[in-house]
Amino acid sequence: MSFDLSKVIRPNILALKPYRCARDDYSAGILLDANENSYGPSLQEAREGNLNRYPDPLHPDIKEKIVSFRNIPSVHNVFLGVGSDEVIDLLIRVTCVPGQDKILITPPTYGMYSVCAQINDVGLVKVNLDVEDGAFQLQTDQVIKTLKQDPSIKVVFLCSPGNPTSTCLSHESIKAVLECGYNGIVAVDEAYIDFVEEKEKGSVSTWVSQYPNLVVMQTLSKSFGLAGIRMGLALAHADLIQILNNTKAPYNISTLTAQVALEALSDSGLSTMYKNIASLKKQREELIKVLENFPVSGVGKVRGAAEGNFLLVEILDRNGQPCNERAEKIYTLMAESKDVVVRFRGKEHGCTGCLRITIGTEQEMDTLAKQLEVALREIA
Ligand SMILES: Cc1ncc(COP(=O)(O)O)c(C=O)c1O
Repeated sequence: MSFDLSKVIRPNILALKPYRCARDDYSAGILLDANENSYGPSLQEAREGNLNRYPDPLHPDIKEKIVSFRNIPSVHNVFLGVGSDEVIDLLIRVTCVPGQDKILITPPTYGMYSVCAQINDVGLVKVNLDVEDGAFQLQTDQVIKTLKQDPSIKVVFLCSPGNPTSTCLSHESIKAVLECGYNGIVAVDEAYIDFVEEKEKGSVSTWVSQYPNLVVMQTLSKSFGLAGIRMGLALAHADLIQILNNTKAPYNISTLTAQVALEALSDSGLSTMYKNIASLKKQREELIKVLENFPVSGVGKVRGAAEGNFLLVEILDRNGQPCNERAEKIYTLMAESKDVVVRFRGKEHGCTGCLRITIGTEQEMDTLAKQLEVALREIA
């Protein structure tokens, strides 16, 4: 069975006549087409970038850089969003009829998939990850069976490396879902892909030329350290990218965001990114060692792998069992009196007793370890 995009996209979106502006056709001369302010921005100091003008609606220059950086066939396979959170929302909006259609998620997973589903009045189907011994892998047969049984599931969100699991899904399992004959979108969220050590577990973004139903989501918020500019991307078949472009707000990426993104994707920006990734990976290894030899009892295993810029760490009770009560206490104590904020994830499926700790600088990791030790002694 071959994938039919027209059966996945909502009829109103397929029929949409996208917003067009005069700037799509003409961008030079005396620009009196868009009700901008020719007297310029109300800023004391002049800044580069014609901020009194609307930004380019599509930013082909940024997309060119992404095409070469990620080895993607063409700019027509790249969509830019206001963070990958916008991409998640758009994917749901273009495919799911409110009150009728559904998405599938695989808990424990990133929270925004279900939040966006609820906002859009879209149903949620859950097929838990296999969490045995912190495997955090797809129950592939179960996922495929569920997708095949329910044609109202329009998108399946797979997070790799997973948040909060810090674990990559196996490529074979992703491939199996892509090839199972499901006529919906398989969205692989690779927000943390640059922190993955082993090449063979790396990005599936080059698969977009092979699979018309694959969307790979990435972001500049993590490895590029640019959460503040809000830029995420979708990599997919050109037909699906066209749908996303038709549906987004006309000028979703601001001029300032675009300027910073271009700088970050330049050769010097990329080398800074690689340098920072190397430092983060080093700190990740160091933290694992520190946790393994922790000076007080109460710290258990790192659950799952270490493939994101964070670790899922067990907090144990006196009997050595992962314990939500203690984990939550430690979380609150650290945040309220130790100036260190981590995340309590114990209520997520397969994460009992776990804190999610983001990898920071060497100094931040030293402080984290010290304060975790103090907190564990205090609640002992
Ligand atoms: C798995 C995952 N996807 C997407 C996002 C959102 O990223 P962005 O900042 O690009 O919206 C996050 C942020 O924490 C995340 O963990």
